[in-house]
Amino acid sequence: MSSLVPVRFQPFDLDLMAQAKGRVAIIVTEDGKMGPAVRRANRLTRGAVARLVESERFEKVKEGEVISLAWPGGMEAEALDVLVLPRRPDQDAARKAGAKLAKLAGGKAVLVMAGNQVRTEDLTLGMVLRSYDFDVHKTKDSDPAAEIIIAHNKPEDAEAAFAPLYAVADGVRMTRDLTNEPANVLTTTEFANRLDEMKALGLEVEVLDEDKLAELGMRTLLSVGQGSDSPSKVVVMQWNGGDEDDAPLALVGKGVVFDTGGISLKPAGGMEDMTMDMGGAGVVAGTMRALAKRKAKANVVGLVGLVENMPSGNATRPGDVVKSMKGDTVEIINTDAEGRLVLCDVMWYAQERFNPVGMIDLATLTGAIIIGLGHENAGVFSNNDTFCDAFLKSAKAEDECAWRLPLGKAYDDLLKSRIADMKNVGGRPAGSITAAQFLQRFVKEETPWIHLDIAGVASVSSETSYAPKGATGWGVRALSRFVQDNFE
Ligand code: BES
Ligand code: MN
Ligand code: ZN
Repeated sequence: MSSLVPVRFQPFDLDLMAQAKGRVAIIVTEDGKMGPAVRRANRLTRGAVARLVESERFEKVKEGEVISLAWPGGMEAEALDVLVLPRRPDQDAARKAGAKLAKLAGGKAVLVMAGNQVRTEDLTLGMVLRSYDFDVHKTKDSDPAAEIIIAHNKPEDAEAAFAPLYAVADGVRMTRDLTNEPANVLTTTEFANRLDEMKALGLEVEVLDEDKLAELGMRTLLSVGQGSDSPSKVVVMQWNGGDEDDAPLALVGKGVVFDTGGISLKPAGGMEDMTMDMGGAGVVAGTMRALAKRKAKANVVGLVGLVENMPSGNATRPGDVVKSMKGDTVEIINTDAEGRLVLCDVMWYAQERFNPVGMIDLATLTGAIIIGLGHENAGVFSNNDTFCDAFLKSAKAEDECAWRLPLGKAYDDLLKSRIADMKNVGGRPAGSITAAQFLQRFVKEETPWIHLDIAGVASVSSETSYAPKGATGWGVRALSRFVQDNFE
């Protein structure tokens, strides 16, 4: 696993600036007013900061911008980053500015002279999120370990405000690690082991093996994994931080550790990206980690279906009919539409066992959602407007974009099968919606439910504000906040 960048909060001490290694950041407002750290930096650099603030360049400066002075005189640091921020930045401005500083640092140490800067915790969160680097498989990476030092007037208060955000950042890190990890490393067994280790955080973790899944009747889930040498598993993680008799919120994740398509084999080009097909399970894992680490006062259960979709002599064929745990039969037209077969059994099990107050499933479910929404928004489907609006509000507050799409009987009708209760695909039109309709057949009428199709946002080929290329951890922040805003 990659490590979370360490963060230290220290008393605001101007002498730190001269000796700090790596990079030093100071914060100026657009009007160029100088606080003590800026004046001190100006003195050390023999007026360079004042010349910058008075320059034409600074007249065109935008908030959130960073102007770097390389190898500043009077300092040991290799750069002085002058960050331009409004006096009272909003949450996103502070986080994005922090992310910018971390990107510039590229793994080197950073000292931020925060003083009494408002939203220091958000600035720091942005730094931590953007400091992520999945380098565990690079043998020649000699970058020194990054460290973030925040010099603040009230370091204890700043640290206390940051603590819950650091917990969430650690959840995001875990999700990204799982999602980035190749499938020869992150087998179903390794995935289950990493979840089992979270017992140390106070989570209750159970790993259900194939015998148990067969006994429960999870035949659609097992049909996906039966072509692989890696055993299918369902992992149940419970965080009980709330009242004993409060029913939990259930989070359900698609954990296909690799999706070849099965007998309906995918084309070779780009197939390597299917290591991220466990992204939904990764978000569930990271969210549970965040909730445990910040000791959320709520009951939440996370369930993930871990399987590998491989072709083999024992693999499911197109045309096979299998029975779900619910009892409904499914004609498998295309073995590449496997995510819904995994989720339907886990979702049914989640409702039967936990009778949850609500259920949210996450899955890299369809290529069609990428055609529809690109990499900017996750697809959202729901049977309950109040529940859905509450989630969308939390997602928006965390700047994790999500867009609701419709459900309806006409779409559901596309799943009719000649020989079974339903088919596993509804054809090319509205592919993401028919996938959601399939899932909805396994949602009890009284369960408020949201389906998040994260195929476009779980892993991306160009960097985002908060993450380098690759896994983003989309959803951990939104779900943690959703729990906080609605269940704590
Ligand atoms: N895991 C894929 C969806 C996917 C595609 C995720 C691209 C991330 C990036 C899913 O299992 C799948 O193969 N879906 C098929 C469904 C089709 C056969 C109905 C698809 O989208 O093509
Ligand atoms: Mn597939
Ligand atoms: Zn898949």
